[in-house]
Amino acid sequence: MHIILMGPPGAGKGTQAEMLAKEYAIPHVSTGDIFRNAIKEGTEMGLKAKEYMDKGALVPDEVVVGIVKERLQMPDCAGGVLLDGFPRTLEQAEVLDEVLQELKMQIDAVINVEVAEDELVARLTGRRVCQKCNTTYHVKNNPPKVRNICDHCGGELYQRSDDTVETVKERLAVYNTQTMPIIDYYKRKGNYLSVDGSQPIDKVSEEIVEKLKQIKE
Ligand code: AP5
Ligand code: MG
Ligand code: ZN
Repeated sequence: MHIILMGPPGAGKGTQAEMLAKEYAIPHVSTGDIFRNAIKEGTEMGLKAKEYMDKGALVPDEVVVGIVKERLQMPDCAGGVLLDGFPRTLEQAEVLDEVLQELKMQIDAVINVEVAEDELVARLTGRRVCQKCNTTYHVKNNPPKVRNICDHCGGELYQRSDDTVETVKERLAVYNTQTMPIIDYYKRKGNYLSVDGSQPIDKVSEEIVEKLKQIKE
């Protein structure tokens, strides 16, 4: 299964990706997580990406595309992959098509998780993330069993530096202008699924799995 998971910041891509990666036994490739890991390790690429991420802007296409291309060639992606947060511009979508063709891979489904903008701000400002395993929580909607501690690995939770009200507003604006246009691109190509992301987490998961089953039939 090769899946693209789309949706505005805070729609629940990372949350649903965790479920999907398990369900279909495919690697979860999040460009945002790749950048955050690079920042943590202090690599040159991480430092460059941080400049853009802190402003809520997109990292330049040539940087992102190279990283994803390399990742897709790793052996664990041979049987399928879940792309979270990539592509995010028309240019990235077009280059991805070329790369997939080279690697003889095909996208089975593009899942767009849709949520209204006012709900997104509340989700992002209340988000907490495990610094060890990247599992996502929410102080109200999806709290860990023990405050600030990851249920899965015991790691400490942190708040992303781009989850401030100001940066969130910028990220939403960037999504509307730069990423929205690729929805039409994928609608035209087929295998496009829209999912109501405003439901509780497990309901969104159910809707995704159900719609994927229909595509596979
Ligand atoms: P990235 O890390 O991808 O951030 P994003 O797209 O802004 O999306 P988020 O991770 O913020 O949201 P999500 O949809 O994963 O939601 P989550 O599941 O966590 O990118 C960060 C930055 O990196 C970008 O701004 C850019 O600078 C750069 N970048 C990354 N990819 C790039 C690319 N391709 N090109 C260029 N630059 C790139 O959920 C959010 C919260 O809501 C959580 O607290 C969660 O618990 C809660 N929640 C989830 N689902 C529900 C639900 N159904 N009901 C209630 N609460 C819920
Ligand atoms: Mg995410
Ligand atoms: Zn953890």
